[in-house]
Amino acid sequence: MTTQRLYSGMQPSADSLQAGNYIGALMQWRNMQEEYDAFFSVVDLHAITVPQDPAELREKTRRTAAQYIAAGIEPSKSTLYVQSHVRAHAELAWILSTITGFGEAGRMTQFKDKSQRYGESATSVGLFTYPVLMAADILLYQTNVVPVGDDQKQHVELTRDLAERFNARFGEAFVVPEPVIPQGSARIYDLQNPTSKMSKSADSHAGVLWLLDDVSVTAKKIMRAVTDSDGTVRYDRDAKPGVANLMTIYGAVTDTTAAEIEDEFAGRGYGDFKKAVRDAVVAEFEPVRTRALELLDDPAELDRVLAVNAAKADAVADATLSDVYDRVGLLRRG
Ligand code: TRP
Repeated sequence: MTTQRLYSGMQPSADSLQAGNYIGALMQWRNMQEEYDAFFSVVDLHAITVPQDPAELREKTRRTAAQYIAAGIEPSKSTLYVQSHVRAHAELAWILSTITGFGEAGRMTQFKDKSQRYGESATSVGLFTYPVLMAADILLYQTNVVPVGDDQKQHVELTRDLAERFNARFGEAFVVPEPVIPQGSARIYDLQNPTSKMSKSADSHAGVLWLLDDVSVTAKKIMRAVTDSDGTVRYDRDAKPGVANLMTIYGAVTDTTAAEIEDEFAGRGYGDFKKAVRDAVVAEFEPVRTRALELLDDPAELDRVLAVNAAKADAVADATLSDVYDRVGLLRRG
């Protein structure tokens, strides 16, 4: 049996990734790259669907790529590249947009949320067709599995519909991909507001753990995390969201279950527990941070690695795109 192909990506939307990206995505990707022929992109073309400062976008793109590598995505094993380096993405997105229904795209809940948040005048056509570009990302590589969070599942369903529609109309050009919510990928919540997802767009950053922060800052944020007055380390997402969230984080970085954590801290207070969470997170983040900063110290070398990987991606993407152009009936340049 041939190795299954995996595709995923993340937007270069901040200078540093946060613990939610690290635990929910990067740690999973790192494990999955052993089993799959994996492609991971930094999706800069998706990032510009909302306004970006050009110099900052370039910097965030490099920083995001550096953090992928520092977290253990190996550019010699996986294909780790910048989306805009591979022209086929924009080209296939155009073709797919011609078989996507206007109403179908309009039903995407992320578009509805974002367009409401930004207002009509700031909502671009690119934001509307964002999921079509995401479908192009996935379909160019004949992807079997797409690890994503809940919020992206609808986009992968659209991708499946577009693949099936294209294949039915023009012949089998695409593998129809499956979304997977990776095992052990956990949703991480804000440490100060543990009923909302940890996010770079939180009003205050007091509850957000940044991978590239000095670890002393991370340590302080963990010690100040909101808990409750019950005093026992017990997993109850509804009644004890702060403690449950710290347990999820601790469990992810120490590879232990909630039951094991409850046993470990039975009869001990939150002070002890938080110190253990702090030490485990600092031990996990520190080498990643150090490695990412080292990589960023030598941008020429980082750019070289990304160029080698973009060439690997190009080869696969071009083959799919060329087949698609033929099937659609575009006259090839003689
Ligand atoms: N839209 C995804 C997100 O914001 C990122 C993304 C772009 C992606 N293209 C992809 C994820 C292809 C998986 C596969 O999280």
